[in-house]
Amino acid sequence: MTAHHPSAQTVSRTGTRVERLPLARFTTLGVGGEAEVWFVETAAQLQEAMEAPYRILGGGSNLVIADEGVSERVIRLSGPLAERDLSPDGQLSTDEQIVTGWVGGGVPLPGLIRQLQKLGLSNLEGTVGIPAQVGGAVWMNAGTRYGEMFDGLHTIEIATPGGTRQVSPAELDWGYRDSGIPRNHIVTRVRLKLRPSTPEEVLAKMDFADQARKGQPKMKTPGCAFKNPGGVSAGRLIDEAGLKGTRVGNALIAPEHANFIVNLGGATAADVHALLDVIRSRVPVPLELEYELWPERPGPL
Ligand code: FAD
Ligand code: EPU
Repeated sequence: MTAHHPSAQTVSRTGTRVERLPLARFTTLGVGGEAEVWFVETAAQLQEAMEAPYRILGGGSNLVIADEGVSERVIRLSGPLAERDLSPDGQLSTDEQIVTGWVGGGVPLPGLIRQLQKLGLSNLEGTVGIPAQVGGAVWMNAGTRYGEMFDGLHTIEIATPGGTRQVSPAELDWGYRDSGIPRNHIVTRVRLKLRPSTPEEVLAKMDFADQARKGQPKMKTPGCAFKNPGGVSAGRLIDEAGLKGTRVGNALIAPEHANFIVNLGGATAADVHALLDVIRSRVPVPLELEYELWPERPGPL
């Protein structure tokens, strides 16, 4: 592994700050080696960043990054791409529906959800407790059984090396944990579609949705490892296979909820991969990974 030198910071042609950094600090699991991180603030900077192979990093809350890091550039939406304008759009809003200004893909979702509650704006409160950025949460339509990102979207702006387009949710083939947006198409910003309510009503719904998290572990983790197959809890299936508390190195299948792998401190990506293999081999139902592995691994994962 290469050591991190503070002098590794440079500025690109379009003025992007580029720095070689350990990716572990950008993830909720706290695992991952180094890569060149591009802190992109403008459309021009984004286009430049996409001129070579890249990955887009959001809140790092669904990622298991290899201890060797990744060879591609890692784009991080910053500055104006992490800002929000929640004022109602005068043309698009009505008494029944508020359409906001633009909300950057780099905006942290938890703070946005709190702010919408204070404004008494409903539709997205079901996503309470998801530690994502807006772009990452839209890209995989993050949600709970009380609601998902696509409940509150009006327009999605998507950047690719070939250019930028704006789409409505109806133009996408979205579903459970899936926006239909191809990998590495970057959600740069969105307009939200919200229902006028009251702070009290929104808070009550948020608290209700949050109750479902009481049984989730509080340690470093990338959330649920597997999607729920056919609506059945993958956690229950892993639990029924007797795997709670299984440990490889410093990674553990959480005793609280079997679909969570936690980092006990000093876990490696290889530890997590090994636990995923154990689960796959012991649960009789085929399970689809919800985590993203960087880089992708060959084989069934
Ligand atoms: P990252 O983890 O950074 O990236 C995940 C994927 O999204 C990558 O492919 C990345 O390239 C892509 N991506 C990131 N940003 C963008 C962008 N701007 N444009 C396009 N693609 C992008 N998920 C749920 O759905 N429901 C839950 O209840 C839930 N609970 C969780 C609880 C905990 C404690 C944790 C740690 C995670 C939980 N998750 C949950 C998982 C995670 O929060 C979601 O998968 C979330 O959508 C990941 O978003 P992110 O911004 O962190 O993306
Ligand atoms: N269960 C067990 N053992 C376990 C875990 C769960 O028996 O180890 C049982 C529970 O007792 C309950 C049922 O399975 O009867 C459902 O469990 P839970 O309410 O925890 O919901 P889940 O289906 O396991 C889903 C999402 C979570 C989301 C919660 C709350 C998926 C893969 N998981 O979990 O999302 O937070 O509902 O809405 O869809 C994520 O996607 O990363 C995530 C954490």
